[in-house]
Amino acid sequence: MRPSKCIRLALTRLTPSNYIRDTAFRSCPSRFLSCRNHNNNLPNQDTNGINNPRNSVPSSTDRQNFVAARVVSEASRSLSFTTTCANGTALDQIIAKNGLNVKPLTVERLQGGTMAANDPTDTAPLNYDQVFIRDFIPSGLAFLLKGETEIVRNFLLHTLQLQSWEKTVDCYSPGQGLMPASFKVRTLPLEEDKFEEVLDPDFGESAIGRVAPVDSGLWWIILLRAYGKITGDYSLQERIDVQTGIKMIANLCLSDGFDMFPTLLVTDGSCMIDRRMGIHGHPLEIQALFYSALRSSREMLAVNDSSKNIIKTINNRLSALSFHIRENYWVDKSKINEIYRYKTEEYSMDATNKFNIYPEQVSPWLMDWIPEGPQSGFLVGNLTPGHMDFRFFTLGNLWSIISSLGTPRQNQAILNLIEERWDDLIGHMPLKICYPALESAEWHIITGSDPKNTPWSYHNGGSWPTLLWQFTLACIKMGKPELAEKAVTLAEERLQADRWPEYYDTRDGKFIGKKSRLYQTWTIAGFLTSKQLLQNHELASSLFWEEDFELLETCVCALTKSGRTKCSRAAAKSQILI
Ligand code: GLC
Repeated sequence: MRPSKCIRLALTRLTPSNYIRDTAFRSCPSRFLSCRNHNNNLPNQDTNGINNPRNSVPSSTDRQNFVAARVVSEASRSLSFTTTCANGTALDQIIAKNGLNVKPLTVERLQGGTMAANDPTDTAPLNYDQVFIRDFIPSGLAFLLKGETEIVRNFLLHTLQLQSWEKTVDCYSPGQGLMPASFKVRTLPLEEDKFEEVLDPDFGESAIGRVAPVDSGLWWIILLRAYGKITGDYSLQERIDVQTGIKMIANLCLSDGFDMFPTLLVTDGSCMIDRRMGIHGHPLEIQALFYSALRSSREMLAVNDSSKNIIKTINNRLSALSFHIRENYWVDKSKINEIYRYKTEEYSMDATNKFNIYPEQVSPWLMDWIPEGPQSGFLVGNLTPGHMDFRFFTLGNLWSIISSLGTPRQNQAILNLIEERWDDLIGHMPLKICYPALESAEWHIITGSDPKNTPWSYHNGGSWPTLLWQFTLACIKMGKPELAEKAVTLAEERLQADRWPEYYDTRDGKFIGKKSRLYQTWTIAGFLTSKQLLQNHELASSLFWEEDFELLETCVCALTKSGRTKCSRAAAKSQILI
């Protein structure tokens, strides 16, 4: 890092129990008259062995807005932090110095999370003044890696409470166990000049497009595991209410439906790409997070009579999911050539073209773009009957590497592809959220003519610096930290000068995004976390997963038992045992 930067973070604190004490708010928070708290209605244990989380709230009561001088984060060798207090207000200000002066950067931090963005000049923050679960993950990791564990613990417990609420959208309540996309801290007046802060979650009922936050619960589980791994404090995940929270999320994801595949069936916009982008069905991002969350749950769930069924279900699903993704989502040059020559309309158990993909779907960009050799390839964005979405989605591919959803060979090949297609996927700013952009008629139909998602902007081929920490983790796992160093250096040259934008536009990420927020917290946190991970490979390694041979065995056995000739042990081996 060039020695001329200083980061100042302004922080406010909120005690863990402020909102919990206010039972009126709990059972019917301000705007949402139809909400009620599940805790009041649940039996002590449901049929899946889920304990009622009643009375599981930490019980401190005093409101404690205070100024605390704390050192937050040493993001790189050259960063050091000091703190100051701002005019007696409830603010922590943290100044990161790495030499000379720099412009101050302000990030609003609550004791239970970080706001999505904090641009003082922004007059219409919409919901960017809320704490998003997915946005907090890099913040949480930055705090954990620095030893600031309390905020992460509070975040996990606050959001666990929100999970127990029931919200309604047009008279309908989404499933129990759903985690909100975000929450807002509201200040409610009490008697005299006192006031109380309460958390108001958004489960999608206010979100633009009313999208379902499927990824929130998955991220929550992943962060919970990271908390244990990094702090060594496993008592949090062992708490009964936390165990219940894990089971509720897992149950919601594992419940039976009309699905034919082990992949999780979701509506459009159910993850980081939280608006219409043609990713309904079985998008890779959700599958990779689902796999990671199931692997985390399997590690964290205490084995007892009430959990043995769900653990069994998780194991079976993990095996089936990795087999399905490895076998059906993987493309390299020869697989694309195979699809290009597919026979269609095959009615049989032994069909090669199981999903009836018409070769016409193999577009010219893909044939040009896919590298020549077998050592490069990637997992496609989505697979549903009659449709393979060949776009490259970065987050899903990175999490397939991190969680070992892909085989070791596939994981290596994904990273090779990113290296070979560096100009397309990284260009001036790491990293493209997806490649290529939807244009012309496809843009009209698939995005619904979304002016924010025009070609090479925002979710439609924009470049998102927050993806950097996940890229860094994947590079460290695959023994190529120098690739991450290169990307971090590139980001470092611009991010601070550009005031930490949310995303960049154009084919090679040259421009700050058209509607990009500035001082976007997960841009800053993603950058800091990348730096910290690069300095500590050992800690980084506690955040990823290696191949699990027990899971592979389960899959091979299941295939053998089904007696289907195509699903022989040898076929499984060639796909999943390498
Ligand atoms: C946008 C992004 C979403 C993010 C939110 C808050 O809606 O699409 O991924 O969580 O902003 O930053």
